[in-house]
Amino acid sequence: MKGFPEGFLWGGATAANQYEGAWNEGGKGISTADVITSGSHTVPRRLTYKNVKTGETGSISAFGPNTKIPEDCIPAVIEGEYYPSHVATDFYHRYKEDIGYMAEMGFKTFRLSINWTRIFPNGDDEEPNEEGLKFYDAVFDECLKYGIEPLVTLSHYETPLNLTIKYGGWSNRKCIDFFERYAKTVFKRYSGKVKYWLTFNEINIMEFAPFIAGGLADPSPQNRAQAAHNQFVASAKAVKAAHEINPEMKVGQMLAYQPSYAYTCDPDDQLLVMELSKNTLFYADVQTGGKYPAYRLKKYEREGIVLDTEPEDFELLEKYPADFLSFSCYGSSTFTTHKDVDQGNGNFVFGVKNPYLETNEWGWATDKNCLRIALNTLYERYHKPLWIVENGIGWDDKKEEDGSIHDSYRIDYLRKNISSMRDAVNLDGVELMGYTMWGCIDLVSAGTGEMKKRYGFVYVDRDDKGNGTLERTKKDSFYWYKKVIETNGADLE
Ligand code: BG6
Repeated sequence: MKGFPEGFLWGGATAANQYEGAWNEGGKGISTADVITSGSHTVPRRLTYKNVKTGETGSISAFGPNTKIPEDCIPAVIEGEYYPSHVATDFYHRYKEDIGYMAEMGFKTFRLSINWTRIFPNGDDEEPNEEGLKFYDAVFDECLKYGIEPLVTLSHYETPLNLTIKYGGWSNRKCIDFFERYAKTVFKRYSGKVKYWLTFNEINIMEFAPFIAGGLADPSPQNRAQAAHNQFVASAKAVKAAHEINPEMKVGQMLAYQPSYAYTCDPDDQLLVMELSKNTLFYADVQTGGKYPAYRLKKYEREGIVLDTEPEDFELLEKYPADFLSFSCYGSSTFTTHKDVDQGNGNFVFGVKNPYLETNEWGWATDKNCLRIALNTLYERYHKPLWIVENGIGWDDKKEEDGSIHDSYRIDYLRKNISSMRDAVNLDGVELMGYTMWGCIDLVSAGTGEMKKRYGFVYVDRDDKGNGTLERTKKDSFYWYKKVIETNGADLE
């Protein structure tokens, strides 16, 4: 079987707040992720806050479009609550060991995020924190030692909390300047070490979870639209700055994308899918395509949303679109206008149950064609190089008495998915830069805060309450993926 083109970037992906821990070490400030507790697929994660006048504390659901910080309250770490990001799986102290595992599997790339608050603890600081900069120097040097190319996300659901408290989050245009300062600082510092960058992880999540995506204190539709606009402008400025600092650098967009299917051939279902898809594609139309699409401007007009813009915004968007389009894709979603259909119960997953697909414990469906469909759809629309930066399956892995972990379900899932993307490349001619499997070393789930929703090739001994030694153990999939990389995707057996 034909594998992938030479130079294909195989690897794995992580995010600082789910992986690093050391939440208050090395001069790091507090991020929005650090005030979110753990949950499960039925109990939502909570955002904790305290009332600045009375000192009373409380919490609200952190996910969803309606997370609004109550009046006189600020998000805060509350004693006695458990926050999974605080220790996570301790990459901060174990990066050498972990990068060693990645090298052993033959990784060509490693996707990680810089925790913005390690560099600018409050987001609006004038000067960066040298200790934070040094940490990532050490991480990148360790990667390069093994020939692993870092792929760095600048903001992965970890906005400096101070930007929420002081400015209301990304709905405030001041965040554009703070982000630009941060981006320029790391571009200059790591020029020559990091070639590939992403600006905002799953930028379209602004639509569904504005506190997570943009640290919004008030999630009104007006604020969400403004926050998205501000992130678009910030991304364009980052592209401009990166190209000026080092023309070798490439800055990509990162979109949460999965194919959407109509449950029936009822034209109303088809129209529904078309409409819902726009809520995702809009974000790529602007950031990768360079222009606001007419359908979105009409929607804003209907809803009375008026964006606060500067005259140069639109020129920037057009002149500095993303160099490539990366996306996460775990499966597919199915939608219908019919009410008598099993609604399914996935966390962070939308739509109804697809009777043709099997789901995991969290309701996420394995779809053997989703990557080929996603890659074709996005390539046809944008004609830009693509990069799958998240794909994988969460599973409550069991460690046997002899210490082995037999995750055949993960191998099966990955085999189907990699085969699907191989067809997109070899049969359809899609230009694909790389593939980074999500959560290559076990880390905290973003959606639930659990540890038991594991994705990794390497198991980490830690449970949902924060117990465990953090010791690492290779799973069966570790050896399988090593062979996939060795054969450049030709051998998936
Ligand atoms: C993506 C996020 O939405 O999905 C990751 O970018 C996240 O941060 C991943 O971890 C998987 O979701 P979950 O909820 O299973 O962790």
